[in-house]
Amino acid sequence: MSAEAHRFAVFGHPIAHSLSPEIHKAFAAQLGLQLSYETIDATPGEFDDAVRRFFAEGGLGANVTLPHKTAALTLAKTASDAATRAGAANTLTPLVGGGFEAHNTDGSGFVRDITERHGFDLRGHDALLLGAGGAARAVAWALMDAGVQSLTIVNRSPEKADAIADAIGEPARCHTRYWDGLEGECFDLIVNATSIGVTGGDFDLPMSIVQDHSTAYDLCYGAAAAGFKGWAIAAGVRPDWFRDGLGMLVEQAADAFDKWHGQRPDTDPVYRMLRQRF
Ligand code: ATR
Repeated sequence: MSAEAHRFAVFGHPIAHSLSPEIHKAFAAQLGLQLSYETIDATPGEFDDAVRRFFAEGGLGANVTLPHKTAALTLAKTASDAATRAGAANTLTPLVGGGFEAHNTDGSGFVRDITERHGFDLRGHDALLLGAGGAARAVAWALMDAGVQSLTIVNRSPEKADAIADAIGEPARCHTRYWDGLEGECFDLIVNATSIGVTGGDFDLPMSIVQDHSTAYDLCYGAAAAGFKGWAIAAGVRPDWFRDGLGMLVEQAADAFDKWHGQRPDTDPVYRMLRQRF
């Protein structure tokens, strides 16, 4: 079959700068698979029709990014545990008989990047998660599954952090604090899952939450990670213990690729290629 017959896409708005086509095509080349992978720009009002049309026309898989991850879950006929728990989907797969399944690879991609690429064993550590949007929700569950000793979630709108902690339902291990209520606490791992680096704003957090050995991780990469990186290093995180989300981007793509093609690509060459640019 031609590459056009194996059609994949990523939906978003905006979407022109997405790295997903490049990543998926690099994985396919590595494994000798033929596929096409396009970007589809759809506004929230267009998303529903655009996704249905894509699958009706024979699309074999779709990734979904901002601002459609919640809508993607709502539209799906079935959902994996990862998507249901995150309340959001980034991977859609057509079902035999019509409709599509929603899945979420953000949490698994994050854990694989931080543990396997960066060698950070999450077990037994005290983690702080900044933010309570869709990405934070996926990462919160993944951190718990990976065995952190404690997970503290803070968010500008505290009720959204509370909702994640309530859904997780392990109050002895996972709890929330107010954004300005972190004085006197310290963490081994601080994960930024807010959109502050994109939309602008300050990380007005006490620097005392950083310890000698703390690692900081921003789910964003490139310029969008610069603000949190600056804060983290000023607070005492060693520069080489700061990680951005480029590896997570590659790993979440590899998990989607594996779901669709039944083969997991070697992510390191693709990560190294992208790292030269970001
Ligand atoms: P995503 O799907 O990437 O997680 P999102 O759902 O829009 O994106 O979530 C963005 C997160 O960044 C939210 O936790 C948001 O806080 P609110 O829930 O209070 O909106 C957080 N955020 C965005 N701008 C922020 C700012 N200036 N200060 C603090 N938090 C901010």
